[in-house]
Amino acid sequence: MLEHTVAFSLRINSLRIDREHFLEAMSKYNIKEVEWYKDAYTTDFPSISRTIEYQLGYFYIQSLSSMVPVQVLSPKPGDRVLDLAAAPGSKATQCAMHMQDDGIIIANDVSYMRLKSLASHIDRLGITSIALTNYDGRTFPKSITFDKILLDAPCSSMGSRKNVMQHSEGRIRSLSRLQKSLLLRAVDLLSPGGTLVYSTCTTTVEENEEVIRYLLDKRNDISIERPELPFSISQGASGDSSVDPHVCWFTLDEAFFIAKIKRE
Ligand SMILES: C[S@@+](CC[C@H](N)C(=O)[O-])C[C@H]1O[C@@H](n2cnc3c(N)ncnc32)[C@H](O)[C@@H]1O
Repeated sequence: MLEHTVAFSLRINSLRIDREHFLEAMSKYNIKEVEWYKDAYTTDFPSISRTIEYQLGYFYIQSLSSMVPVQVLSPKPGDRVLDLAAAPGSKATQCAMHMQDDGIIIANDVSYMRLKSLASHIDRLGITSIALTNYDGRTFPKSITFDKILLDAPCSSMGSRKNVMQHSEGRIRSLSRLQKSLLLRAVDLLSPGGTLVYSTCTTTVEENEEVIRYLLDKRNDISIERPELPFSISQGASGDSSVDPHVCWFTLDEAFFIAKIKRE
């Protein structure tokens, strides 16, 4: 069966268990460390989400590629963080781990149904620093600003191993418009000196490099910083020399695009 050949990756929840006890509890599932991220493990155990350790909140199941945007954002204890498109919560809960559950994380999503699933993860993992909001990110209120913002944008998911959909050109263009509006609002919400990470799990230039190009055309108070990552990455592929060298692509278990944006 395919299920037996699929390796899962997971992230330890240090709020529920320390590393030593985690390794002891999980040894029966043949977990292996991931060399570039101390919080990540892989396992070939087929039904890891049906174990008692999962129910107890000892870990979160997350693809390896999806763990990288938060590493680049690098939230710290005490930070004020916004995750503008947060459900079902892989990266918002990862932010809470990096921050040792100390600070404020607003996890926003336009989908109330998907927020419910985020709420159940927060409960299972025992996180207290995340508050949920249910705005369309394009009109998220500008009454406060944030030190760190993640925009893990809605996208065509062409790089995802779960994706089975083909998207029309019109659909890609409409996603690109949505991503540009979300990114502009995210910059408005960023404090001076703050960091914003834009990520997608898709491979179209329209949803990636073109969105960053649009931002550079619209705003002169931001710069793009190329993230340094501990594995091989490629630069953008749009042919635009003012964007490509500063953004990055990589494929671990999924293809991901990341741009790191600083506000002056
Ligand atoms: C790629 S998923 C986010 C995954 C999430 N960051 C995680 O790591 O678990 C994109 C999310 O964007 C949300 N979304 C779509 N349009 C939105 C909008 N206009 N404002 C806010 N969220 C939106 C979707 O409901 C979906 O949950």
